[in-house]
Amino acid sequence: MKVKVLRQQAPGSEPYWETFLYDGPAENSVAGVLDHINYNDDITDIDGRPTGRIGWECSCLQGVCGACAMVINGRPALACETFVRDLKGDTVEIRPLRKFPVVRDLIVDRSAIHESLKETNVFIGEYRPSDDSDHGHQYGAAKCLKCGLCLEVCPNYTGGRTFYGAVFANDCYLAASRNRENESGMLKVYGEHFAKSCSKSLACMDVCPMKIETLASIAKLNRKL
Ligand code: FES
Repeated sequence: MKVKVLRQQAPGSEPYWETFLYDGPAENSVAGVLDHINYNDDITDIDGRPTGRIGWECSCLQGVCGACAMVINGRPALACETFVRDLKGDTVEIRPLRKFPVVRDLIVDRSAIHESLKETNVFIGEYRPSDDSDHGHQYGAAKCLKCGLCLEVCPNYTGGRTFYGAVFANDCYLAASRNRENESGMLKVYGEHFAKSCSKSLACMDVCPMKIETLASIAKLNRKL
C-alpha cells in the first residue's frame, strides 16, 4: 500500500506531499502504519530517496486520548481507530487537521481549545450535583477527548477567535452543571462565541469518536441562556 503524507518541516514552512511504501500487516491501524514507516533508521520515500521520520502524536493507542487525530483519506479520524483493512484503494492519504496551526507534519497545536474555555472564567470548584437527573448526559459530555475532530468538520469554525465550536459548548455545559458561581458570565461568553454562530450542521456529532450528544448540551445551555 502507498502512504501519501502531507509533510511540513516547521510552522509556516511550505507543506509538501511525500509517498511511502507500507508492506506491513493489513491488521494494522493507521497509527501502526506510521509507526512501521518510522521504525527504520534509514527512512526512504517510495522512490528510495532518504527522508526523515514522520512527525505525529499518540499516547494511548486505544481511542482514549485524542492525540492521533488527523485527516485520513479526506475524513477526520483517530489514526489508532482507523484500520488498513477498512481503507479503500491501494493508497492512503494522510494530512494534519486543517483548522489548527501545524507544528510539524501531522502534529498540530490545539491550544486554542483550552484558551477558549479560559475565557468563560469558570474553573472546577466544589462539585455540586445538579438536581435535574442529568448525570447520564454529564458523564457522556465528560468523555470529550479534546481531539479537535469536531472542529475540523465544523462549517462555522475557522480557527479564529470568534466561534469556538462543539468542544467549547460541551465544556460550558459541564462547567454549568458542576459549578454555578460564574454561570451568568460563562453563559455570556457561550452566547457570544457559540450560540450566536452555530448553524446546527451537527457534523460534529457525526465524527465524534466518543459519540457525545452535543445537541443535548447545546439545548440545555440555550434554555439557560
Ligand atoms: S493515540 Fe490516543 S486516541 Fe489515538
